[in-house]
Amino acid sequence: MLVNAAEMLKEAKKGHYAVGHFNINNLEWTKSILLTAEELKSPVILGVSEGAGKYMAGFDTVAAMVKAMDKSLGITVPVALHLDHGTYEGCYKCIKAGFTSIMYDGSHDDIETNVNHTKELVAIAHHLGLSIEAEVGGIGGEEDGVVSMGECADPEECERIANLGVDMLAAGIGNIHGVYPENWPGLRFDVLDAIQQKTGDMPLVLHGGTGIPDDMVKKAITLGVSKVNVNTECQLVFAEATRKYIEAGKDKEGKGFDPRKLLAPGAEAIKGKVKEKMELFGSVGKA
Ligand code: 13P
Repeated sequence: MLVNAAEMLKEAKKGHYAVGHFNINNLEWTKSILLTAEELKSPVILGVSEGAGKYMAGFDTVAAMVKAMDKSLGITVPVALHLDHGTYEGCYKCIKAGFTSIMYDGSHDDIETNVNHTKELVAIAHHLGLSIEAEVGGIGGEEDGVVSMGECADPEECERIANLGVDMLAAGIGNIHGVYPENWPGLRFDVLDAIQQKTGDMPLVLHGGTGIPDDMVKKAITLGVSKVNVNTECQLVFAEATRKYIEAGKDKEGKGFDPRKLLAPGAEAIKGKVKEKMELFGSVGKA
């Protein structure tokens, strides 16, 4: 059931659990995530970066695929189709394409530009029934070629953006996209705590979910995180399972080269990873 993300995140914040945002890259990814959410009776958010959107032949194609798949698979749990780290222009494209949720990432702009764009997009998104995420303080690492060092968000700026009426707020707390370096000092819970004090009921978003130790994820959820974004971990398990299949020579046995067989171990590995994360985030049985 395709919905916006506002209600599921309000419920998560109230219930002290988080909804998983899993990035999709193709049909296999989408199918694995939807089937797992349905099996576990968990709400879920499908994240689409601008790069992945382009790869999948554009946001129109993605929206059509997700809508049709949700229907064909008989998915009953709430599913949000969400633009991840959208530009100003990207947000408009996704609104037009029929996404149910957008993220406007104005964290690379000065705060006044971020406020102005976010305000405008909140009005349009809400008028059309979409939910909207905003960001304050850059998330570290590399996403679609944009490299950021990962600064901590200023709680006062978070309060300003939260007051614009966004449905969820991503705030940098030392988190990084991709695999964390050995010497990563960990999440800044003091900053997260200060942000939650300033933003009250606002569902907070933890980006860079890959590789954050489980106890830190759980603690972040107790401090107001209601959405956790995971991308790289699904890519890594997909690649590993596919490599094993090929290294075992299975693509050369019978019709093992058939993409339905070749991609099956990777698709199963994504299901396993999504299940593990939904259990960790506490969203199982909440739909
Ligand atoms: P990871 O790739 O580190 O899991 O981050 C995903 C993310 O935050 C997408 O917005």
